[in-house]
Amino acid sequence: MELIQRPRRLRGSDAVRRLCRETRMSPDSLIYPIFVDETLQGVRPIEALPGQNHYGLDSVYLAVEECLAAGVNHCILFGLPATKDPVGSSAWAEDGVVQQAIRAIKAKYPDFYVITDVCMCEYTDHGHCGILNGHEVDNDKTLEVLAKTALSHVQAGADMVAPSDMMDGRVAAIRAALDEHGYTGTPIMAYSAKYASAFYGPFRSAAGSAPSFGDRKGYQMDPHNGREALKECALDIEEGADIIMVKPALSYLDVIRACSEAYDVPMCAYQVSGEYAMIKATAAAGLIDEYRILCESAVSIFRAGANMLITYYAKELAEAIRKGD
Ligand code: PBG
Ligand code: ZN
Repeated sequence: MELIQRPRRLRGSDAVRRLCRETRMSPDSLIYPIFVDETLQGVRPIEALPGQNHYGLDSVYLAVEECLAAGVNHCILFGLPATKDPVGSSAWAEDGVVQQAIRAIKAKYPDFYVITDVCMCEYTDHGHCGILNGHEVDNDKTLEVLAKTALSHVQAGADMVAPSDMMDGRVAAIRAALDEHGYTGTPIMAYSAKYASAFYGPFRSAAGSAPSFGDRKGYQMDPHNGREALKECALDIEEGADIIMVKPALSYLDVIRACSEAYDVPMCAYQVSGEYAMIKATAAAGLIDEYRILCESAVSIFRAGANMLITYYAKELAEAIRKGD
């Protein structure tokens, strides 16, 4: 056969395949979610997320040590507070669960990079991501508490804040509060294109943050929309976001691609709880190879254009990347 082009030439051995890879991942781009429960002592497995744990304030350092051992140097913190109220005041308390967790981590591991999720849903007794006016979340009232919360995280030592509430104007409000207090150098990672997704189910059970009535469709994005993600990213960048995010990841690879091509800021993707739980459950049923699927799904997210990834598989993935898988 007189075939000039034979693409298989570059697939003939592991050595040549590795040489020609288009997507190269690094443990440096991985962020591990850590759940801290103010009412807990020690470590307790999370039923909804097999393989993940709740950590007490006395043992959150263990989560960090596991990350460091795996070569993961960044985390995002989620808090389960001891008390909730209608406005979520435990979210910005100086001795709140996240604020205490940051101090506990930084006391032992000052170089471990701590990002905090900034939202109200874990702290409000109704489980919505902001302050209610009737049955609606009041956008502008919520901005004030988000800004206070983000500031309190940074004052406790957080390296970066990540608002996940989807209120309009939250990045500007947080940026102003941080700057006013001298934290001009603290970056904001905005959950910019965050969809109203059923893939958050296991997280809400793990974080105790499911809304007690209604849903989040009034503030999170409609999954039918792609172009709107570009607008959300543009607004967040205008307001001062340093990093934008698309969430969930696997069902939104088109959005990751579009946003990463459109904007010159680093882009994060979040492989969310339901994506993780689906892999876990299918693997437990013996239907797929968990290791290969976790590798392939991460590769697809980076191939689509993400620069960093929040994933419950961060530790496993860091090892896999070092092996070249
Ligand atoms: C808080 C928040 C959620 C997630 C991250 N931050 C839940 C939600 O919006 O309901 C989801 C993360 C996951 O599913 O892994 N707003
Ligand atoms: Zn929320």
